Amino acid sequence: MSRKNIVAGNWKMNLNYEEGVSLFSEIVNMVNDEVVGNQEVVVCSPFIHLNSITKLSTGNKVSVGAQNIHQAASGAYTGEISAAQVKSVGATYVILGHSERRAYFGETDELLAQKVDAALEHQLKPIFCIGETKEERESGSFFAVLQAQLEKGLFHLDAAEFAQVVLAYEPVWAIGTGLTASPEQAQEVHAFIRATLAKHYGEDVAESTTILYGGSCNPSNASTLFAQKDIDGGLIGGASLKSRDFVDIVKAFNQA
Ligand code: 13P
Repeated sequence: MSRKNIVAGNWKMNLNYEEGVSLFSEIVNMVNDEVVGNQEVVVCSPFIHLNSITKLSTGNKVSVGAQNIHQAASGAYTGEISAAQVKSVGATYVILGHSERRAYFGETDELLAQKVDAALEHQLKPIFCIGETKEERESGSFFAVLQAQLEKGLFHLDAAEFAQVVLAYEPVWAIGTGLTASPEQAQEVHAFIRATLAKHYGEDVAESTTILYGGSCNPSNASTLFAQKDIDGGLIGGASLKSRDFVDIVKAFNQA
């Protein structure tokens, strides 16, 4: 069964308003000029850019997402932003469960399950991140850690709801460190994730779920990573801040 290939950029807390709009325009132009495959491109920007860049993305292959939402529909939550608000400016994705949100903002699996529900209620597709720390990798507990993140964050969804979810495997030890997981290490985990999905949702759902790799992915290593059987694209941090690097990663499918 075929599934969608996606390259998503996570700008994190970078770029002022002008810089973000101009980077997005460059990406759109380069994607239109250079990308021939049917992979989808997503840019997840800070909230301040969303309204403008969704307007620039109309009619082309680049979709827009947020990096967080609050779990409540609306109300007295000073400083927070709801799924409905993000949706109202035309964004279609939201990153949830990123290890930086889990580690620095105390986001638990239980909270993330609520955020996933809020996203789906407002037709935002979650890009749901899971990943183990260096200690968990070295102690060998990482499969159990990843399985628990999947079960607690997502497995309350029925199959139709789960079909809206994109997964991202982002080993914490590989994020922003230059220590990319080897293609074999990443493939091993992606195959494990797909097998875990198959046990819970069945083979069809597992085979049609897009699973991205994230963590020091760059134009030099992307094609070998994307050539792995169970790796369907990437979630890109640092390299998504440079249009040339990001679009080269988008073009890395079928080039290994
Ligand atoms: P880097 O690509 O900078 O390692 O970041 C990965 C990431 O966290 C994307 O969400």
